[in-house]
Amino acid sequence: MREKIEKLGAQFREEMSSVSDVQSLEDLRLKFMSKKGYISELMKELGKVPPEEKKDVGQMINSFKSEITSRFEEKKDEIIRLQEQILIQSAESYDESLPTDTLTGSFHPITLVQRQLEDIFESMGFDVEDYNEIVDDYHCFEALNIPPFHPARDMQDTYYLNTPNQLLKSHTSAAQNAIMIKYGRRLKEEGRPIRAVFPGRCFRNEAIDACHENTFFQMEGIMIDKDISISNLIYFMKTMLSEVFEREVTVRLRPGFFPFVEPGFELDIQCLICGGDGCPSCKNSGWLELCPCGMIHPNVLRAGGINTEENPYEYTGFAFGLGLTRLAMMKYEVGDIRTFNDCDLSALSQFVSR
Ligand code: DAH
Repeated sequence: MREKIEKLGAQFREEMSSVSDVQSLEDLRLKFMSKKGYISELMKELGKVPPEEKKDVGQMINSFKSEITSRFEEKKDEIIRLQEQILIQSAESYDESLPTDTLTGSFHPITLVQRQLEDIFESMGFDVEDYNEIVDDYHCFEALNIPPFHPARDMQDTYYLNTPNQLLKSHTSAAQNAIMIKYGRRLKEEGRPIRAVFPGRCFRNEAIDACHENTFFQMEGIMIDKDISISNLIYFMKTMLSEVFEREVTVRLRPGFFPFVEPGFELDIQCLICGGDGCPSCKNSGWLELCPCGMIHPNVLRAGGINTEENPYEYTGFAFGLGLTRLAMMKYEVGDIRTFNDCDLSALSQFVSR
């Protein structure tokens, strides 16, 4: 038995010395350590060893076992380090003496569209707000008139964290309640309308294809004051879109359902390519769906502390949710949404920095 253990030890050391990649290392480990490996075999044979030798032989097997485990870990680290070294050496070397203009990056197309929109909205008196990516169920859904088990939640399946009641926001509308609370007092005491946009990253549990991503950007906007009407909504959207596309755009509203607005709309713009006659870009309809919007639902205004039970229509407002990713696709004629998250520099570096 002792001889067998020694022989196996020698075999292990020899085979170990010729291992040079992780897979063959794992194969070797299994050969010795798996259920049907040599160590299990030795353990079975230990039963047949005379009682006076059992202790010593048992110890021999144990120390052989620890040798295998520790050698295995050492070798694994060694292989990984070696592979990293090879990778570093083969990678393009970084030359710090290169002139700086060749090292200048460019902005991501979504950043460009976001900044352009922020400028446009700021010029119309809007505050630009920042908001969390991790939110709770109340802000993402309940404060927006979407109670638990409401079917509208099905369209916004997102990622839930292990921490109770926390999730990655599925839309920028999740910031509406916080913004209302932040500016509500100013509205009531100083009479200054709430005008805010909040851009941000959103997440949804989507099957990814050329038009769908699990991570994308939106820009939410709200305006609240006394006597805000659909005309105000149309005016702001039309002005903003004409600036973005750098020409006069024609818009239309169609009814659309979103629990946090009433009435709710889909805002379309007349196709900029065919001018409304119909072409492949607008699927021959002459219109492109661009931005869901609507008049903020009374329940949402109440949850945000804007109106009271007694006076539920004192203030009114509109909201919109602009798909920044979609807008960037339209503006820069990007056919596949995955381009934005791929980090493919040959695609992304084409966009001029600002
Ligand atoms: N949050 C909605 C979504 O992501 C979009 C939306 C619709 C936002 C209507 C709005 C709105 O502000 O009024 O699907």
